[in-house]
Amino acid sequence: MSFTLHKKDGEARLGTLKTSHGDVPTPIFMPVGTVGSVKTMDSEDMMELDAKIILGNTYHLYLRPGLRIIDEAGDLHKFINWDRPILTDSGGYQVFSLAKLRKLKYDGVEFRSHIDGEKIFIGPKESMEIQKSLGSDIVMIFDECTPYPATYEQAKESLEITQRWGDECAKQELHPHQMLFGIVQGSTYEDLRIESARYLADMDLPGYAIGGLSVGEPEEEMLKTLDWVLPELPEDKPRYLMGVGTPPQLVESVARGVDMFDCVLPTRVARHGTAYTSSGQVQIKASKWRNDFGPIDDECDCKVCKGYSRAYVRHLLSTNEFSGMRLMTYHNLHFYLRLMERIREAIAEDRFEEFRQDFHAKYQRGQG
Ligand code: GUN
Ligand code: ZN
Repeated sequence: MSFTLHKKDGEARLGTLKTSHGDVPTPIFMPVGTVGSVKTMDSEDMMELDAKIILGNTYHLYLRPGLRIIDEAGDLHKFINWDRPILTDSGGYQVFSLAKLRKLKYDGVEFRSHIDGEKIFIGPKESMEIQKSLGSDIVMIFDECTPYPATYEQAKESLEITQRWGDECAKQELHPHQMLFGIVQGSTYEDLRIESARYLADMDLPGYAIGGLSVGEPEEEMLKTLDWVLPELPEDKPRYLMGVGTPPQLVESVARGVDMFDCVLPTRVARHGTAYTSSGQVQIKASKWRNDFGPIDDECDCKVCKGYSRAYVRHLLSTNEFSGMRLMTYHNLHFYLRLMERIREAIAEDRFEEFRQDFHAKYQRGQG
């Protein structure tokens, strides 16, 4: 496993992340498969969409189906019938956003499962053992995602916990094929963010993530944080912005040097009837599309846009047909994955800045 930075165009980077389950070209978007499935899609869909890597969640998979069953299947790849790369999030974020009655302890978090209230403990050691057992290609450190807003004192204390847990994670043994990524925290404070990035950079990990963003802060805060953190991270390692974002946010983050993204937006909003298109977001459920027989996006060449109309997809959504959610999800993922492909082509041809301007002009025009 290794990362190769092929070239830069401004701060935008073109690279390849090699894993034992295949190569991932960067910048890349990773569809979210929380419980081991990208909602409404199957592995054939994901292959057809040519997703290079997907994400799974330690927290959810540990609660259900549990490690015994995944072990019995072999590993997560075998269990879910996906032999391309998988990144697993550590559980840190999900424990804080989903679990009830959390008790923060020195070496982890005690919480009650959001499913049946069972008392469970996960700390850095446990998270590494679980992710080792899942066999994911990229393993995330167990961190505390500092809530927003946080006072300086709160953010500092939270960062100390993340650093202590990060050290603990790095001591645990993983499979030879697994890469451990650190996670930069520090809320909206420049000195804490820089301290966190330098601390992790000194650990010489295979990759670095930026966490604690897209948690309610204004977009300018997020971009400012990237401007503080990215220059502190080693050039020759991949940078992953966790949980971000909208299509314009992906473009702006690539412009600052981010290589990897994951986000529930394309899949989640699809199920509520929102499509991403080259001219912005479109609410396909709106009654104005009831007799519009054109595609979801005129400029999209996905199988949904080639064959199905807005009127039909709207009809499926309004009658709560599962196929409506499926077609919307397929199109939105195609949009995100194709956007990243166009970004890579633009960087390769030294025209990323032009691409960036054109993208925003067009995407904004369709909004509102
Ligand atoms: N997903 C989105 N943000 C975060 C974060 O800060 N930490 C982790 N572990 N996962 C995330
Ligand atoms: Zn489409």
